[in-house]
Amino acid sequence: MLIFSSDVSASEAFYSRTLGLRLSDRIVGGPVFMNSGPGDHHVFGFVPAEHPGLHHSSWMVSDIDQIARGAQSMASVGYTKGWGLGRHTLGSNLFHYIQDPWGSWIEYSSDMDCITENWQPNDWDCPAAVWSPEAPADFITNQEERTA
Ligand SMILES: [Fe+2]
Repeated sequence: MLIFSSDVSASEAFYSRTLGLRLSDRIVGGPVFMNSGPGDHHVFGFVPAEHPGLHHSSWMVSDIDQIARGAQSMASVGYTKGWGLGRHTLGSNLFHYIQDPWGSWIEYSSDMDCITENWQPNDWDCPAAVWSPEAPADFITNQEERTA
């Protein structure tokens, strides 16, 4: 899951201190990815924004066929707006996102990099995807209303 945060450094520190998550990698000026130890490159993270919100929930599936079947299933009930198929740069996972009725995204994901206990995080100046169609213009727009 990635959430919008108005202070990604403070979010990183909070989830590290309280839940024991560890920094995986950061995209300079963009998302911060956290892991829960050896295994998936990231399980949680933060997207810079003016106020809190949900960016996306990710659903790990077994392979590219399951990603395509998920996208096809969502399209069959009217949810065609999305981004994919592509392969992310950090984590290297295949992805296909579908926008939910509230403007957040559902990600079908497969083939993520596994990290070890000795993983060394880095700051990367890189695009979100190695290859993909162009992302929707509102892909990183926080659709949730500001509260208080
Ligand atoms: Fe994701």
